Amino acid sequence: MLDISAASVAVRRLDYAPPAFLIDEVQLEFDLAPTKTTVTNTMRIRRAPGAAGAAARDLVLHGDDLDLVSIAIDGRPWTAYTANDDGLTVSALPSDAFTLKLVNTNRPAANTSLSGLYVSNRNFFTQCEAEGFRRITYFLDRPDVMTTYTVTLRAARDDYPVLLANGNLVETGELPDGRHFAKWHDPFVKPSYLFALVAGKLAAREKRIRIRSGEEKLLQVWVEPHDLPKTEYAMDSLVHSIEWDEERFGLPLDLERFMIVAVSDFNMGAMENKGLNIFNTKYVLADAQTATDFDFAGIEAVVGHEYFHNWTGNRVTCRDWFQLSLKEGLTVFRDQEFSADMAAKGLSPEAAAAARAARRIDDVRGLRQNQFAEDAGPMAHPVRPDSYVEINNFYTMTVYEKGAEVVRMYQTLFGRDGFRKGMDLYFKRHDGHAVTCDDFRAAMADANGRDLAQFERWYSQAGTPRVAVTTRYDAAARTYDVTLSQGYGPSSAAAKATQTGPLLIPFAIGLVGADGRDLPLKLEGGTRADAPTTLVLELTETEQTFRFVDVAEAPLPSLLRDFSAPVIVHYDYTDAELTFLFAHDRDAFNRWEAGQRLATRALLGLTAAASRGEALTIDPAIVAAFGRVLRDESLAPAFRELALTLPSERYLSEQIDDADPAAVHAARQFLRRALANGLRDDLFAAYDQNRVEGPYAPSAIDSGHRGLKNVALNYLADLDDPSDTAALARAQYDTADNMTDRSAALAALLQIGKPHATAALDDFYRRFEHDALALDKWFAMQAVRRGAPGERVLDDVRALMAHPAFSLKNPNRARSLIFQFCMGNAAQFHAADGSGYAFWADQVLALDAMNPQVASRLARALERWRKFTPGLRDAMRAALERVAAGVQSKDVREVVEKALA
Ligand code: TRP
Ligand code: ZN
Repeated sequence: MLDISAASVAVRRLDYAPPAFLIDEVQLEFDLAPTKTTVTNTMRIRRAPGAAGAAARDLVLHGDDLDLVSIAIDGRPWTAYTANDDGLTVSALPSDAFTLKLVNTNRPAANTSLSGLYVSNRNFFTQCEAEGFRRITYFLDRPDVMTTYTVTLRAARDDYPVLLANGNLVETGELPDGRHFAKWHDPFVKPSYLFALVAGKLAAREKRIRIRSGEEKLLQVWVEPHDLPKTEYAMDSLVHSIEWDEERFGLPLDLERFMIVAVSDFNMGAMENKGLNIFNTKYVLADAQTATDFDFAGIEAVVGHEYFHNWTGNRVTCRDWFQLSLKEGLTVFRDQEFSADMAAKGLSPEAAAAARAARRIDDVRGLRQNQFAEDAGPMAHPVRPDSYVEINNFYTMTVYEKGAEVVRMYQTLFGRDGFRKGMDLYFKRHDGHAVTCDDFRAAMADANGRDLAQFERWYSQAGTPRVAVTTRYDAAARTYDVTLSQGYGPSSAAAKATQTGPLLIPFAIGLVGADGRDLPLKLEGGTRADAPTTLVLELTETEQTFRFVDVAEAPLPSLLRDFSAPVIVHYDYTDAELTFLFAHDRDAFNRWEAGQRLATRALLGLTAAASRGEALTIDPAIVAAFGRVLRDESLAPAFRELALTLPSERYLSEQIDDADPAAVHAARQFLRRALANGLRDDLFAAYDQNRVEGPYAPSAIDSGHRGLKNVALNYLADLDDPSDTAALARAQYDTADNMTDRSAALAALLQIGKPHATAALDDFYRRFEHDALALDKWFAMQAVRRGAPGERVLDDVRALMAHPAFSLKNPNRARSLIFQFCMGNAAQFHAADGSGYAFWADQVLALDAMNPQVASRLARALERWRKFTPGLRDAMRAALERVAAGVQSKDVREVVEKALA
């Protein structure tokens, strides 16, 4: 896996050329064995119509880490070929159309990269996106080569009783020597990245459903047999996903059966292979004892996401990997809408709106904390990137979450119905094809009769746009002018080069009157007969003024309602104005946003004071503002939980040049203590009022109550005198009947101080010793522990790495301990002595040798090194240079080289 030759070779979007050869059909036969699996690959190949020149002469197939056994064309052994590290070149082709039969072997048990065919817990799994299929057999491993697959699996029956592949099962039978086989056929054309097989000792939860057409479908969730009781929620989520996609988008399940398989060694969340989705166990297995409300929500979202890919990704796929957001941005948008609809289901209109808002806030918080940072750093790239060295590095927050915001903007501009029309046209035009982001935009434009040429810039420009707002009220004329101007903040040279002109920004706005109510909105020259209370302004110029007329009083603007575009808004609110909006804004998102702005401003002031070594103080009005929201029973608990959650240390550091994580931590802790001490009684009251009676259910309502209760507990752990909290947390730990409460209690005890948590930590370990996902939490909670002054949490982390239950090879375990420490414990990771960075370099290099994809994710923990104080910056640079000198994979090399450039 030494990639030195390929090290920094970039693939460029504008170099795209259509394939010179096509595959009309492929038959794959697998003789599965862990040390050596043999693949017999028979392809009907033909030169693409019109293909000419050098590219069309020889057939060049991708291959990676394969051993070729034999090659034949139209039944005759072929000798005109060369094989190298990147694949196989077949020459002297006899005609424009021929059958190529290849036999090759690969080594699943030795495959620690978890890309291609690999073994996990003695079972076989595959992962082919993006370029893993070439690690299974030689192929035209690019998404615009689509074909139909017939797959025969052969293996020892005792060890591998279950044999699965994409599509429909057509035949099974016995073979000599205790072996058996299964033959699968997938009637839908697909690119190789959607291929999958699974073999081993697994059991399925099954359900038969009838879709709207009346057809019956078989649903299966395959897991290790002892995990069957934990598959109910995943199955329910699948059923809900199928219903939702028919209801909202008219998109039915197309295959006779749909399978989900869980595997404990997996690089990401899950994979949408046609009819055979393969999932990280984390997004399948759950019960009240072992999974939190957050975990349940993750399962619903990821099951939905992968299922929705069946249309947005599989039936219509990507022409090339630069178009990745075509399927990912769209599918994230769809899963967000699904989760919001599920949370709102069956509630009163007001409660439904609150439930949807909570989901929106959650999504935006993630985007702003992570994607905005990515967009401001060395890995910044457009939603549709222009080049990559390793495509696996581009499964990013930008492609996924910013991509989802770009899709959401179509819906904001055209409404749900207009968006649906665009989707219908997209499928009508492109079903069964590999297409581009431009094709999607064209479908939206044509279905809605709009010119969306300018909107293309959302796909091609990197960096987070900023919108500066100024306002002017003219009491005599009763007009209110809102001037919006757009641009970008400081950007890397590469990002700057993409910033070519103003964007079309849907900018939702409301005007709030002195009584807290929305004013009716009428735009000068507007044609709307009604006077809505929220309007979507379309900002298309660098600067534009919108005049509202008949404005009876000087309003307060509520800007970018529901976060209508992925931008940063600058407006000079006073603290008093923010406090007012925090108490009154009718747009739930902006009500939350006002609290966040208030807190952020206070925290940045406190951070500056802490860096100067000054004593910290806080305006009691801020504590009072949070107290009012905490006590406001008209607000959904889930909203109050979000409102009370302060911006993360990571997010705050992003807002500062020469950031000092220790000062940020001191500031945030100071404000947390001030809120805890100042709102002590209210917090205890919220704790009591939000206990959930009765059996555990992961519903939006119950989890909202638990969330508020546990956020209160967490604040109370920061009281100057936390002795009552310690008793309360210990009682909660001991009596909890679910993981949400048990883990929250343990986290609170750890927050009070490690000695308070020792007994519970030991108990937790004993209780969940044999449950990998629960044990991940045990590692993670210790990795993100705050630590007493002067204490080094890293010492614990190192000790935990020597624990018999720790393994670097298992990505979930590595993430729970190492990633949590490096990316979720800023103050400890950025210790002044550089110990965190040295640890990071050791782990990146260790992971790099076995799993480049996972290593490369960890490598990104230092990419924002230039933001920090000079002392930290130097130590980070040294660690990055050490990794750059020792790296093997192009995955990690691309990340550290871009960081250092
Ligand atoms: N396409 C998958 C999804 O969106 C994610 C994915 C991409 C993936 N590459 C992967 C999963 C590699 C596992 C391994 O859900
Ligand atoms: Zn996806």
